[in-house]
Formats: sequence, structure tokens, C-alpha cells
Amino acid sequence: MTPDATALVDGVDVDDHEPVVDVKHTLDAVDPPPPLVLVVFGASGDLASRKLLPAIAALAEHKALPEGFTVVGVARTQWSDEHFRQVAIDAAPFAGHAWREVVSRFRYVAGEYAEKPTFDKLKKVLAEADAKLGTAGNRVYYLATIPSMFGDVARALADHGCNAPGEGGAFARIVVEKPFGRDVESARALDAVLHSAFEEDQIFRIDHYLGKETVQNVLALRFGNAIFEPIWNRRYVDSVQITVAEELGVEHRGGFYETAGALRDIVQNHVMQVLALTLMEPPATVDAQGIRDEKVKLLRAVVIPDVDEAVINAVRGQYAAGTVNGDPVVGYREEEGVDPRSRTETFVAMRLAVDNWRWAGVPVYIRTGKRLPKRATEVVLQFQRVPHLAFGRQLTRDLRPNMLQLRIQPDEGICLLFGAKVPGEAFRLRSVDMDFSYAAAFPGTTGGGYERLLHDVMVGDATLFIRTDEVERAWQIVDPFLEAWSQDGVPLSQYPAGTWGPKESDALLARELRQWHQP
Ligand code: BG6
Repeated sequence: MTPDATALVDGVDVDDHEPVVDVKHTLDAVDPPPPLVLVVFGASGDLASRKLLPAIAALAEHKALPEGFTVVGVARTQWSDEHFRQVAIDAAPFAGHAWREVVSRFRYVAGEYAEKPTFDKLKKVLAEADAKLGTAGNRVYYLATIPSMFGDVARALADHGCNAPGEGGAFARIVVEKPFGRDVESARALDAVLHSAFEEDQIFRIDHYLGKETVQNVLALRFGNAIFEPIWNRRYVDSVQITVAEELGVEHRGGFYETAGALRDIVQNHVMQVLALTLMEPPATVDAQGIRDEKVKLLRAVVIPDVDEAVINAVRGQYAAGTVNGDPVVGYREEEGVDPRSRTETFVAMRLAVDNWRWAGVPVYIRTGKRLPKRATEVVLQFQRVPHLAFGRQLTRDLRPNMLQLRIQPDEGICLLFGAKVPGEAFRLRSVDMDFSYAAAFPGTTGGGYERLLHDVMVGDATLFIRTDEVERAWQIVDPFLEAWSQDGVPLSQYPAGTWGPKESDALLARELRQWHQP
């Protein structure tokens, strides 16, 4: 059966090559969730089968789910309970007996998302789950529908009394996928609807980058070690780069991507989160308030350019036909669901500035794109050169500035680039690196992010979820760039698939005598 189009959260991409997760190490230390029902709106869609169900299966495999646990799928597609269960089994080929047992309790409700008959059926199924599984009224509602349905479903949940914490301290939480709006205005409007139905502490805005071990490790590196923080500032750091590069094109998501583009799809959320964690001040405590207060403080220090400044400090591009990994691929405008005259960007590079005591004068360069030569997400801190190189220019021509590369994915790790003497009589220096690999130190512990975040929402820990003021501020930062796009102030350059974006992207750094670090 064709999946229900309204159940596709195209905002979330899927990587079939992601390693099968091993959450055991990461979840051992936290409390198991209480019994609960996870209600997935949009259960017949892409996000559910390719991200959520595998993540729940990984939790089941590692006994990180409570005894009383089940999933109720809701979507327009007319599936039976059996069909949904089979989809769940197929979604997690790595899972075994434990998963089959959990899945055997799954239920499915077919119907329009915001209509009474759907909620009548849903409430009946939930009451049955409470009676059979002891889930005691605890609910997590996951909005995995197309974004335009988020507000309607939230309102409908409230209209049908599903928003209020139940008797005996039962909880009702709502998980909202990105994108949270299309700009600051629509984000505020969505927030108003969410807040009319739920309290802020019931709302979990998910950004799967925050569930990635290596993103969290930015905090561990900075605040768990004495040696990095003293140099993590304008006195030592020359510039910061954040790259989110993908080999993939828009796949089957052309229709969605046409309404988004790289700035909305990646920069407003994933990049802003990574940037905030990399540059924020040390939090007093690593908890929901401590971390999020500091992230917001940092985002508030990011300079919001006017449209003219946005024009000067941004590059946008769109992939043309080319070759990725030896395979010929079509251009963006030839992709299914894409307007042949589309002006949607699949690549963005921009220069931001952070006006605070720590970062004033340190440029932050950001780039993201689809159909680049390789998949790589990384943060690079480039340090200043020594004040005086006593070895002479000739002998140090192969010496690059010190760099600290935080590889978020793949090949997760940290690499420090420093100068060393080349053996021989002359005092010749060259750059070498010291490389830490996550996989070598902690085999099998990285995942896409969802399993960790699903677990956190079940135990009610909002530390790795986005607060409303973060969303709003991130939109304020990117809105001038969107405005510059809409006025056609920034040319939309084509780049051949399999290259590092338009040449203007290199020029953005070259004009300041810098260049991109190639992952
Ligand atoms: C999603 C975007 O949020 O993140 C996709 O909508 C993108 O376009 C994906 O491909 C990248 O996620 P990851 O985990 O593969 O880096």
C-alpha cells in the first residue's frame, strides 16, 4: 500500500548506512522509563519506519524499555494492527526476539488526524493499553506528520482532553519534529498553538543532532578537561568552521525540500545547535535549564545582519548533474518533485559573527550542502599563528596553523593538528596530527540520535531538546538570509554534484585570507 503522504516527515532524512545502534553503554546510567504508551501520529510514514521504529527496536533490544510499553500508530493510511506490526518488524532487521515481543502489543488507529472519530478510537485503544499493560495514563505523543499538521494535531489533542496530565501524576508529553515553522513569524504562531494546548515542560522539540554522542561530546571535551577551555576564545582562536556535508541528494524528498532549502533544513536547527554548544559559556549544571540558558545566551550574541550584510556574507548554490563516488547523478532540478526552474538552495555557506567578550572578532564560517564529495559533519577551530616563527619562511612553508577538528560524523573523533620537526639536519617543520577515534575507544556506541532522545523524553529529561526561545532566536539569525534570498540579492550558483559547492564559497573565506578545512 502507498504510504500516507501526510505521514511523511520529510524534514528528517534517512541514512540506510547508519550503524546499527548499541545504546547499552549510553543508557546504562540513567533511570528506566516508567510504563507508558507512545502514540505516533504519522505512523505510516517515512520517519516512523526509517528512524523511530528502528530506534525503539534498539531500545527494546537493550532492555531500555519499561515492561509496560507499547506504541499506538495513528495515520490516515488504512492499515490493520497486523500490518503496522509487520512494518515495525521489517523496520528493524537487526532486532530479535525482544523486539517481536514488544511489537506484538502495538496497535494502529486509522483516521484523519484532527477528527473526533479518530480520537474516540484512540482513547479506547489507550484505555485498553492501560488496563492490559499498566501504562497508567502515561503518554508520549509524537508528531511525525507533515509539519503543516503539527498545530492541528496539538489542538485536537487538547480538544479531546489528551493534553492534561492524568490522574495519579500520569504525564502527557508531546514531541515535535523539526522544522518548527518556516521563519520567525510562523515559528511563533506554531508555538502559540502548542502553548495553548500544552505547558512548556510538556513540549519536547526534537533535533536529532543533539542525540548524537559526538555532539554531546563537545560539552565533555570543553568542560570535562582543563586544557581546552583556557584557549577556547578570541585570544587563541583565529576562526571557527562548521561543515555539514552530505553525499546524498534530496532522494525521494524533492517535494518537501522545495519548500525548505538548506538554510531551513540544516542551518536553522542542526548547525545552530552545534554552534551554540561549541561557543557557549560553561553551564553551572548539565541539565535542561543550565544547558539551554547558555545556548540561548550564545545565540543572542550572534550578530543578526541586516539584509545588505546578509548578501555580502552568504553564498547559495544548487547542485547540477555530476558524479558522486564514481556514480553519475542528476541535478537538483531533474529530481522527482522538483520544479525544473527551482530557486531552492541545496548549498549554503555563510559568515557569522558573535559579539561577546569571548568571541568578538572571530569569524564563524558555516557551510552545508547536498551532493558534496563526502558525508562529513565537523567543527574546526583554527588557532592563531605563533607571534614569531624563528625557523624561517623556507623551512616552515608546510606548517599550517594549529587546528582542532571535532568530527561529528562519520568516523567520529577528534584530531589536533600541530607542527613537528621533520627528521634531518635542517629545522624544517611540517604539520602532523594526533587523532582520537571514537570507534576505537568505545566500540559500537554511536547512533543516529533518535534512540537517545526517545529514551530521554520517556524519562522526562528535556536537556537535549530545544526550548522555545532557542527556536525563535535561531530563526532571527537566519531570517535576514532568507530575506536576501527572496530579494534575489544572493546569486544562486550551480555546482556540479560531487564538488564542494560553488566557487563563491571558497571566495567567502579567501577574501579574509582563509580557506575551508577539507574533511
Ligand atoms: C535532516 C534533514 O534533519 O537531517 C536532512 O532534513 C538531512 O535533509 C539530515 O539529510 C541529516 O541527518 P544526519 O543524521 O544524516 O546527519
